[in-house]
Amino acid sequence: MADQPSNRFDLTGRTALITGGAGLLGVEHASALLDAGASVVLTDISAESLDRAKAKLATENRDARIRAHVMDVTDAESIRNLYAKLAAAGVRVDVLVNNAAIDPKVTSGGLVETSRLENFSRDQWDVQIAVGLTGAFLCSQVFGTAMAADGRGGIILNIASDLSMIAPDQRLYRREGVPDDRQPVKPVTYSVIKTGLIGLTRYLATYWADRAVRANALSPGGVFAGQDEAFVKRINALVPLGRMASHDEYRAAIQFLCSDASLYLNGQNIVMDGGRSAW
Ligand SMILES: NC(=O)c1ccc[n+]([C@@H]2O[C@H](COP(=O)([O-])OP(=O)(O)OC[C@H]3O[C@@H](n4cnc5c(N)ncnc54)[C@H](O)[C@@H]3O)[C@@H](O)[C@H]2O)c1
Repeated sequence: MADQPSNRFDLTGRTALITGGAGLLGVEHASALLDAGASVVLTDISAESLDRAKAKLATENRDARIRAHVMDVTDAESIRNLYAKLAAAGVRVDVLVNNAAIDPKVTSGGLVETSRLENFSRDQWDVQIAVGLTGAFLCSQVFGTAMAADGRGGIILNIASDLSMIAPDQRLYRREGVPDDRQPVKPVTYSVIKTGLIGLTRYLATYWADRAVRANALSPGGVFAGQDEAFVKRINALVPLGRMASHDEYRAAIQFLCSDASLYLNGQNIVMDGGRSAW
């Protein structure tokens, strides 16, 4: 049997850039990658939320491996500027995690009747596609090109969703006493973005394969984050495991997908949804 490197999950000496890194899962992705030994470039649109996220992640042996930079994924110049700043500081991005999205939260009243297809505005369509889909394209263009150019390769991981595989079940979002034509729904953009990310993943996986750039997608199921009881009961009934995910249950998958442990995995969508899409 050929010699195995002692730990293919070890990310010591590698740098991972995470978009939307100040959000609920972005911080978890960063924490998982830091635990595997990586340096992390945390990016998001607001400096304050980045400061909070960085403070949460910082511990004595991690401090020096965390950078935080404001970067708007919808703005090519903002991405190119950060690329140039990192390059000037001698930082090579080995792993790109396209995680940013506008994800209206069930609990925040984010899903209002304007989310309904009949009323959905062109502006909302444009804004959400710009972040979730165009943003992943622009970041992959800048950082993927650099990964391919110097021959050392890299990894692009697109964070999709179980809704890259199945349609939203709009019954989940129903509110008591609200007329049908005003019931909130998961917006059409979410399905389009998450399904689109799988196409982007396959495209990128083959485009630079000869330059050792791999691309995969992770499709998480819903994470429990204090949503109301009625919603949780309904979604639990759709999941064979009978529950939502805990916020830390994707960490090991992130470590696998962003390291040499997944060296022969390319162009795939890893669906971690408690079995929801199998039903
Ligand atoms: N939480 C879940 O249950 C769940 C389930 C499946 C998939 N996902 C996916 O996981 C990813 C992270 O989700 P989350 O729950 O952490 O969401 P979140 O809303 O907590 O985080 C998203 C982050 O993206 C940032 N962002 C928004 N616009 C941006 C822009 N223009 N440029 C840069 N950053 C921007 C936000 O500021 C935010 O910090 C998303 O792609 C989401 O669709 C989440």
